[in-house]
Amino acid sequence: MSETTKTTNEEILAEEKAMLEDIAARLSGFARERANLVPLLQMIQERHGYLPPDAINMVAEYLEIASCEVYGVATFYNQFRFTPPGKHQIKICLGTACHVKGGDIILENFERKLEIREGEITPDREFGIDRVACVGCCALAPVATVDESVQGHMAPSKVEGIILGFQIEKEREAREKQKDDAGEK
Ligand code: FES
Repeated sequence: MSETTKTTNEEILAEEKAMLEDIAARLSGFARERANLVPLLQMIQERHGYLPPDAINMVAEYLEIASCEVYGVATFYNQFRFTPPGKHQIKICLGTACHVKGGDIILENFERKLEIREGEITPDREFGIDRVACVGCCALAPVATVDESVQGHMAPSKVEGIILGFQIEKEREAREKQKDDAGEK
């Protein structure tokens, strides 16, 4: 296993541990009533971006109901997601205007470049891809949103450029961290 992968796995485990501790600490702020099931799930989703299986079990145990019941309620509402979002979430619009202008080709380009399918995230959790309906900028079709920014007139070369930009930024951050770590020794 490479040093980078090892660090990433350790970081992910540490993040998950911190997340579960945070959820455990906040459960007691809610009365143990079944009526609090959806508010509890909303709190977890808002704070952590998704509902991990351990969190579902914690909520079930706290409210003294079955995990499958919690899961059943959570899947009923499409506001909840069950996989962690990517650090950079890419949403490709496949509304009518974007579809006509080749939105599906843009989606395919992101999928190929990142080696994941829509609804998935990369193993290092850097990127996630989702498809969305009209985001209200049809004049700029085809459109993708990257984190909070709207990218209009998307083309395969722009897909390359967006990913490359993030990679360069990540490498720069890693170099700075290395420098800082070396300075601390
Ligand atoms: S259809 Fe894509 S922005 Fe409207």
